[in-house]
Amino acid sequence: MDKFFSVADIDDLDSVVREALSLKANPYNWRELGKNKTLGLVFLNPSLRTRLSTQKAAMSLGMDVMVINMDKEGWALETRDGVIMNGTTVEHIREAAAVMGEYCDILGLRSFPSLKDKVADYTEELFNKFVKFCGVPVVSLESATRHPLQSLTDLITITEHKKVAKPKVVLAWAPHVKALPQAVPNSFSEWMCKAQEQNLVDFTIAHPLGYDLSEEFTSGAYLTNNLDDALAKADFVYVKNWSSYRDYGQVYPVEGDWLITNEKLGLTNDAKVMHCLPVRRDLELSSEILDGPNSLVIKEAGNRVWAAQVVLKRMLENLKK
Ligand code: CP
Repeated sequence: MDKFFSVADIDDLDSVVREALSLKANPYNWRELGKNKTLGLVFLNPSLRTRLSTQKAAMSLGMDVMVINMDKEGWALETRDGVIMNGTTVEHIREAAAVMGEYCDILGLRSFPSLKDKVADYTEELFNKFVKFCGVPVVSLESATRHPLQSLTDLITITEHKKVAKPKVVLAWAPHVKALPQAVPNSFSEWMCKAQEQNLVDFTIAHPLGYDLSEEFTSGAYLTNNLDDALAKADFVYVKNWSSYRDYGQVYPVEGDWLITNEKLGLTNDAKVMHCLPVRRDLELSSEILDGPNSLVIKEAGNRVWAAQVVLKRMLENLKK
């Protein structure tokens, strides 16, 4: 593996999950693999889980890790080509990425979307430029349209906690006060659609009118605007807010009650509830769910380590070839 950007970078989902769970059982068996190798983690946006879990995964593989919060600690970055840099930007991504590639064997990049320029965001302009100019393997720490380490984590968590061979998984839109990216739901959806193709889950997406995700990510999913119908017999409910894809980055007033509570959970097959975190309590997800026995959010966050570790292990193995 020389890039981890989307579900397309993994052929066999069952096999990557089994490998991740074997790392969870024996985290330090591969310490020699990463010896004298350096991982650079580049953040253009905030992070708690992605930063710490990826650092921990790399250290368990014997790697050295360097982290830069480019938005706060780096020079102001120019990402456009063909501009005279006589404004506020100081360093072009062409030089910045290439220099980081000189210091690191593998790089990770977090770069959120603008939510203003749909074309630039959905062609992954910034992420692709970084990959092109850094010259080393790159793992996405969440890009404009996807969050693959989160989605792999989610599949690992579903596999660990499922009680039937092919659980019903529901992605449920949730309220929020801000316009959030579509990266997490896009990514979860494309991973679940592939898992459905491989006969691992049954997948439904429920969202209010106007919040359709791009069809690029939802092929094969059952789509509905009725949350209660979606929740019927669900084994897992994945809660997440997102802004409109069609009216890019916009949010509309929403009719009906989209907050998952114990009453809503009563419609399900005693479903486990997931969220990538951070979560706004009693806005996106009720405290009674978060503090109750059906919440998987902490175990899910814990599993971020094994998703990162299996991806870095495969990249390190590829470096040795
Ligand atoms: N879920 C997730 O990516 O968390 P952070 O933004 O804290 O990394």
